Amino acid sequence: MKIAFHLLVHFSLLVLVSSYGGNGYDPLENALKIQRSRRTVSNHASKEDVTVENSYTPVYVGPQDGLKEADKISELPGQPAGTNFDQYSGYVTVDANHGRALFYYFAESLVNSSTNPLVLWLNGGPGCSSFGSGAMMELGPFRVNADGTTLSWNKYAWNNVANVLFLESPAGVGYSYSNTSSDYITDDIQTAKDSYTFLVNWLERFPEYKTRDFYITGESYAGHYIPQLAQLILQNNKITNQTVINLKGIALGNAYVDDETENAGMYDYFWTHAIISDEIHEGIISNCNFSEGATITDACNDYENQAFAAKSNVYFYDIYAPLCSPFSNSTPSISGFDPCTENYIYEYLNTPVVQQSLHAKPVQWESCNDFIGINWKDMPFTVLPVIQDLMASGISVWIYSGDTDGRVPVTTSRYDINKLQTPVKTPWYPWMYQGEVGGYVVGYDNLTFVTIRGAGHFVPSYQPGRALAFFTSFLEGKLPTDH
Ligand SMILES: *[C@@H]1O[C@H](CO)[C@@H](O)[C@H](O)[C@H]1NC(C)=O
Ligand SMILES: *[C@@H]1O[C@H](CO)[C@@H](O)[C@H](O)[C@H]1NC(C)=O
Ligand SMILES: *[C@@H]1O[C@H](CO)[C@@H](O)[C@H](O)[C@H]1NC(C)=O
Ligand SMILES: *[C@@H]1O[C@H](CO)[C@@H](O)[C@H](O)[C@H]1NC(C)=O
Ligand SMILES: *[C@@H]1O[C@H](CO)[C@@H](O)[C@H](O)[C@H]1NC(C)=O
Repeated sequence: MKIAFHLLVHFSLLVLVSSYGGNGYDPLENALKIQRSRRTVSNHASKEDVTVENSYTPVYVGPQDGLKEADKISELPGQPAGTNFDQYSGYVTVDANHGRALFYYFAESLVNSSTNPLVLWLNGGPGCSSFGSGAMMELGPFRVNADGTTLSWNKYAWNNVANVLFLESPAGVGYSYSNTSSDYITDDIQTAKDSYTFLVNWLERFPEYKTRDFYITGESYAGHYIPQLAQLILQNNKITNQTVINLKGIALGNAYVDDETENAGMYDYFWTHAIISDEIHEGIISNCNFSEGATITDACNDYENQAFAAKSNVYFYDIYAPLCSPFSNSTPSISGFDPCTENYIYEYLNTPVVQQSLHAKPVQWESCNDFIGINWKDMPFTVLPVIQDLMASGISVWIYSGDTDGRVPVTTSRYDINKLQTPVKTPWYPWMYQGEVGGYVVGYDNLTFVTIRGAGHFVPSYQPGRALAFFTSFLEGKLPTDH
């Protein structure tokens, strides 16, 4: 009876929840399809403008007095005993006229929080939650247990070595919201501006972090968010009379940064990982031109559809992982990750007492907001020129990749690096974690490329130990060697 009940609960969640990690649900693909169809219609050939304006207008800064104390989480429901770090969450208003506020969750470092760096984590989508996926499924201090009500400790949490700030961005994602509903039709530029305004205000609320070393990391569509936000910070740092943000580096995980390499890399990955036939792959090679401004022919579309059909229900984000299904809901993947985790998170984050403890508005929390992704206004074809600028700026730029991701696969990242045309300084070598190969590294001029072996799209979910090891190297500014 109990088992039957659990099956029912899990099955109904499967049907209802289109969670980021959910079977067959693919927010990035949905958004990209729409962007591509628009490009074809408007025959958009020129490179879209990815630069931001040069003149500085002060950003909105709201009163922050007393808000840090108000945001302190006394305890999350079901959290394990002995939690010995400070955690905060709440809203930062980024536009007072529109009533637009972004929700954050902040986990201070377990030790040395007063000297360890400040790291911003961003999930992609566009439209997916950095708190629900990033913090609760990937690198945050807790994982939600299968009961949907209790938490367990993630011993590989990134707040072992950093103070980690998770931002639900843009407004409309997760608990973030706007009182002006037209704000939910947004784009890359507005998202970068809001994230910047968020940071300036957040640093007023937490002034002890103002001069701290600051890093931005994230994955997937954050391959757009991160370079654009970093560029905006560096530009504004030169001219601002507000807070100068001490940006030291960025790390882009399985990142969507260029539409041509995304397509080419994905189908090549499918072929080299025995997901599609030779015929489909050859059909794509000879019929598809994925470069900017090229026409997407019907023949190409047809082969692309064939590729997706051939893939069948292989879990896109981690191709060797089991699916979350009512008949195997306790089968962990090779790496021990429970494929139904997103369902537990959904249940937990929609519990009223949890929302109260987080100081969140009572809302229906979703891991991804489809409306945001589908209505995304402007998506530059590529942000590689922005990444090139950042490489020359002196900040540390890392591209990392879980090598069992089919969504933004390692082939795509390698094609990105080809396009960046930076010379190799330290040739390809294996880095070690606990006596085994953790992945591979190449040191380029102003760029580091790291793979994480056996990790899917959500790298810290599948290979938590290897992920923490590579992240520690990133913060230390050293190529990973042996952990
Ligand atoms: C949104 O509107 C509600 C209700 O009027 C108000 O309480 C809240 O402060 C507004 N949010 C922002 C960010 O201004
Ligand atoms: C904390 O900082 C001290 C002093 O810099 C250092 O010796 C120690 O290794 C750090 N501890 C951890 C766990 O990072
Ligand atoms: C920054 O400059 C603007 C004018 O450009 C001025 O209105 C504002 O008061 C200045 N802010 C500070 C903190 O000095
Ligand atoms: C692909 O399209 C681009 C842009 O229209 C064009 O410059 C290029 O020559 C095309 N490549 C091939 C192989 O046809
Ligand atoms: C690396 O950065 C320096 C300046 O810091 C710049 O001169 C050089 O062109 C950059 N190289 C690449 C490949 O980005």
